[in-house]
Amino acid sequence: MRKSKVSVDVSRKLLQSAKKVMKNAHAPYSKFRVGAAILLSNGKIFSGCNVENASYGMTNCAERTAIFSAVAQHGPKIEITAVAVVNDHGVPCSPCGACRQVIYEFGPDAKIYFQGAGGPKQAHITELLPEGFRLQ
Ligand code: THU
Repeated sequence: MRKSKVSVDVSRKLLQSAKKVMKNAHAPYSKFRVGAAILLSNGKIFSGCNVENASYGMTNCAERTAIFSAVAQHGPKIEITAVAVVNDHGVPCSPCGACRQVIYEFGPDAKIYFQGAGGPKQAHITELLPEGFRLQ
């Protein structure tokens, strides 16, 4: 597995984008705002926030909002190099299981920046999602 290289500058920029978009979250039910930013292999950054719904199960996480926005703009050939996730409670928050699978679809070598139990943390997507599903 090739490990992605992301400069400190770019990872800071990603976190900044995630913080900025977090303010747009629609989270009246959980009151937990999340922002995510993804870096594509072409250097472009896309961001997204969580969008909740009165029918709770229809909620879309920040990570998937960012990824779907990138696909809508650039098509399905995007390659995700890195993902940053932040929340407005400053508590540990890694991508949920569903988002891990969606990140893996477009970024099997992606690096994930998130808040861990002991502070800011980074992990390879395959550490968060071992043996991710892929149709051959
Ligand atoms: N949420 C995200 O957007 N991303 C995560 O990584 C974890 C959870 C959202 C979903 C829901 O709107 C709220 O946080 C509480 O679960």
